[in-house]
Amino acid sequence: MPRDAVPQPVRLSDYRPPDWLVDTVHLDVRLHPTATRILARLALRPNPEGREGSPIVLDGDELSLKSLTLDGTPLAGNAYVATASALTVLAPPQRALTLEIETVVDPSANTKLMGLYRSSGAYCTQCEAEGFRRITYFPDRPDVLAVYTVRIEAEREEAPVLLANGNPVESGPVEGTSRHYAVWHDPWPKPSYLFALVGGRLERIVEEFVTASGRKVELGIYVEPGKAGRAGYAMDALRRSLRWDEEAFGREYDLDVFNIVAVADFNMGAMENKGLNVFNDKYVLASPETATDADYANIEAIIAHEYFHNWTGNRITCRDWFQLCLKEGLTVFRDQEFSSDQRSRAVKRIADVRLLKSHQFPEDAGPLAHPVRPDTYREINNFYTATVYEKGAEVVRMLKTLLGEDGFRSGMDLYFERHDGDAATVEDFLACFAAAAGTDLSQFALWYAQSGTPQLTVSGHWDASARSFRLDVEQTLAPTPGQDEKRPMVIPLALGLVGPDGRDMPLLLDDGTNAGRGVLTITQPRQSFVFRDVEHRPVPSLNRGFSAPVKLVSGLTTEDLVFLARHDADPFNRFDAGQSIALAHLVEATAAHRAGHPLPAPDALVAALGATLGDASLDPAFVAQALSLPSESDVAREIGGDVDPDAIHAARLALRRALGEALAPALEEAYARHALAGPYSPDAASAGRRALRNAGLDLLAATGSAEGVARALAHFERADNMTDRFHALSVLAHNAPLAREAALSAFYERFRDDPLVVDKWLALQAQIAEPGTLERVRALAAHPTFSWGNPNRVRSLIGSFASINQTQFHRADGAGHDFVAEAVLELDGRNPQVAARLLAAFKSWRALEPVRRSSAERALRRVAAREGLSPDVADIVSRSLD
Ligand code: ARG
Ligand code: ZN
Repeated sequence: MPRDAVPQPVRLSDYRPPDWLVDTVHLDVRLHPTATRILARLALRPNPEGREGSPIVLDGDELSLKSLTLDGTPLAGNAYVATASALTVLAPPQRALTLEIETVVDPSANTKLMGLYRSSGAYCTQCEAEGFRRITYFPDRPDVLAVYTVRIEAEREEAPVLLANGNPVESGPVEGTSRHYAVWHDPWPKPSYLFALVGGRLERIVEEFVTASGRKVELGIYVEPGKAGRAGYAMDALRRSLRWDEEAFGREYDLDVFNIVAVADFNMGAMENKGLNVFNDKYVLASPETATDADYANIEAIIAHEYFHNWTGNRITCRDWFQLCLKEGLTVFRDQEFSSDQRSRAVKRIADVRLLKSHQFPEDAGPLAHPVRPDTYREINNFYTATVYEKGAEVVRMLKTLLGEDGFRSGMDLYFERHDGDAATVEDFLACFAAAAGTDLSQFALWYAQSGTPQLTVSGHWDASARSFRLDVEQTLAPTPGQDEKRPMVIPLALGLVGPDGRDMPLLLDDGTNAGRGVLTITQPRQSFVFRDVEHRPVPSLNRGFSAPVKLVSGLTTEDLVFLARHDADPFNRFDAGQSIALAHLVEATAAHRAGHPLPAPDALVAALGATLGDASLDPAFVAQALSLPSESDVAREIGGDVDPDAIHAARLALRRALGEALAPALEEAYARHALAGPYSPDAASAGRRALRNAGLDLLAATGSAEGVARALAHFERADNMTDRFHALSVLAHNAPLAREAALSAFYERFRDDPLVVDKWLALQAQIAEPGTLERVRALAAHPTFSWGNPNRVRSLIGSFASINQTQFHRADGAGHDFVAEAVLELDGRNPQVAARLLAAFKSWRALEPVRRSSAERALRRVAAREGLSPDVADIVSRSLD
C-alpha cells in the first residue's frame, strides 16, 4: 500500500476535552449551485477543562477561507493559519470571543454526498460523522454543543422551500431581488453532526400531533414534486413513533415542528438531524404498486429509528465517535421494540436475528472484526457497522434480560434524567443501570470491549434415578484482530426444559431457587447447573428468544430438533430448531456434493416443515420464516473454512427441490388458503399471508415442474401489488430461465420511470446464480438507468452482486472479484464511503477454498496498490489484508 494512504489511527485512550467551547452559532447561508457562501459567527470561550492558553483549532475539509474576523476586526495574516483541513487562530485572547468565518463551497461538485450537496436539484446536507467541516471551519466533534440560528437565502424560483433545524422564526423576500430567505432557530444545544439545512422545490404533506402533555407539533414530510401521494405511510409511522416513545419510554417531542425530507441521493439510510431528519427516499416513499411488504416494514422501522434518536442521540449525544453504539445500538434496540409492538414480536425477533447472523456474525469472524465500542479507528465512517448497530442492540437487549423489565426501565429513566444535555459515554450509560438495579456491571461491560462471537457449548445429562438434569456449559471466545486474550463474558441464557408432552417442565435448581424468569446467568468459562424434580428426560430449549448473541453448540440430536420444531413454546427456538436441521443438512450435502457422493435425503426437515405447515394455529408469517432456508452465506459461515460456493449452491438447490416435491400438497393448499381478497394493505397479518404464499410459490417452482413455473407466471401476471409482482418475478428469475427474460422486460417497461423500482430490477438480476450474470451486470452498469453517482443504484446492482451472489462474486476464475475491485476503484474518486462499503463484501475472503482465496487476495492487493486511495478504502483494504 502506498505510504500514508491510510490515515493515522485515532485512539479512545487519547481522548481529551476540547480546549474551546462554542456557545452559539449563527450561520448565514446564501445558496448557489456552484458557489454557496457561508458566513459563520461563532461565540467561543476557553473550556475550563481544556488546556490553558491553547490556540483555537477548527476542523475543515476541502475548504477555502474567504475572510476571518475576531470580535469584528479582520485578523492579521500572521495571527492564523488556514489550510483546506484546518483553521488555527494562533494566540487568541483567553476569554469569550466571536469569530466570523466566511467560506464558499460548491454543492454541485460535491459527489461524496457529505457536507452540502445537491440531489435532484435540491440542496441538502449530511454532517454525520464529519461533514460539517465541509461547510465551515468548526470544532467538528460531538462534545462541542452549541445553540444554532440559521438564515438561508436562495433564488425563490430554485428553492421555494428553505428548512433548517429547530423552529421557524421568520421568512420573506429579499427586497428588490428574486431571492428570499428563512430563519430557523434550534433552542437545544447540539453537536455539529446534527446540523442540517435543505433548500429546494419540494412538495409536502403535513399533520398535527398533540403530545402527551398537550403541546402541538406540526409534522411535515417533504418529497420531490409529484411524490406526496407516496408519503402517507411514512407519516403514519411517524405519528405512531411519537406516541410509542411517550408510552414505552416516557419521552416527548420537544420542538414545534418535526420535518422529514426525502432525497434520492444519500449515502446511508437516513439521518436524525435535530427536528429535520433527512432520508434516503427509499425509506419514505411507498405505494402498493411500487413498494413491497418488506419496504413498508423498513420504512416503519427507520422512521421510528431516526425519530427515537431525538432522545437517544440528540438530547443525550456521544462524547466522541468511539461511543457511537451509545446512540446507535440503543436506538436500534428501541426501533426493534417499536416494530415488535406494532407487528408480531416473534416474527420480528426471527427477522432481527436472521439479520444479525447474516451480517454481524461474519463481520465478527473476519478481518474487519471490532468491538461494539472500538478503541481505535482510522476512518470513522467505516464504523457504521452491523457490529455497532445490531450487536450494539443485542447488548442493550441482554441488559434488559438480566435486569428485568422494571430494572431496565428504571435504568433508562435514570439515564435520561442524569444525562439530558450531555455528551455521554458507554460508562455513563452502564452506571445508570448499575445504580438503578444495585448491581455491578463491570464484567458485563466486556460486551462493549471484546470483539468476536462467543461460543457456548452446552450438554445435558438426565439422571433418571435422581430425577435431576444437569447442564454443563462452557464458553469460549476465539482471538480476533488485536485481541489475542479474551476474558469470560456475562451470558444470559434463557432456557426451558421441554417434557415429552411438549410442555415446559418447572425450572427448579437443586439449591431450591428457581431459575429466575427462565434465565441462567453464565459468568465463568465452565459452569454446571442441576435442576431437580425432572420427571422425564427433557429436551433443553436453549438461548430462547436468542437471549445472547452467541454461537450455540447444543449437541441436540436431529430427533430432539424435530421435536422442538413441533413443540417448543418459545417461537424463536421453534423456528431455530428447523433452521438448525436445515443447516446441518446443507453442510452435509455440500460435503457430499464436493466428494461426488449422492446427496443425503432431507427426511427430518421434511417432517419438521410438514408439521409446521400443517399446524393451522401458527401465524402465516412465522410459517413463511420457517420455510425460508438458511442463505448460501449462512451455510458458508457454518462451514467456516475451505468454502466452495458452487457446492453450497448445488446442495441448497437440491434441498429446495426436494422440499418442493415432498411438501407439494401442503404448499399448494397453503397457497390457495391464504389468497387475499380486497385491496392491498401493508399490515402485518396480510403481509404474513403474502409471505407464506410466496414462500410456497418459490419451493414449488424450485422443482422446475411446468406447473410450478406456470403458477409463478400467473402470480406475476395477476399481481395487483409490488410484493406479489416482485416476488413472482424473482421466483421466475431464479427458477425459470425460459420465462425469465420476458418477465424482466415486462417489469422494466412498466416501471422504467421509477428509480426505486428499477433498483429492485437491477438487484434481482445481479443475484442470479449463473455464469452469465457477470456479463449481465456489466451490461446493466452501462444501461441508461444506472448511475455511479447514485448510491442506491450502485448498492442495488454492484452491492447485491458482491454481497448476495456467492457463486458469481466468488467465481472460480476470479472475474467476479476483479469486477468488484474495479468498481471500488471507479467509485473511490467519486464517493469513498460507498466504495469502502462495497469493498467490505470481501470480508470473509479467508474462509474460501484456496483457488478463490487467492483470487480474492489478488483483487484486494490490486486495490491496495492504487495511488491516491481515499482514507475510507485504504482503511478497509489494509485491515482486510492484515
Ligand atoms: N446516524 C445515522 C443513523 O441513524 C447514520 C448516519 C451515518 N452517516 C455516515 N455518513 N456515516 O443511523
Ligand atoms: Zn441511528
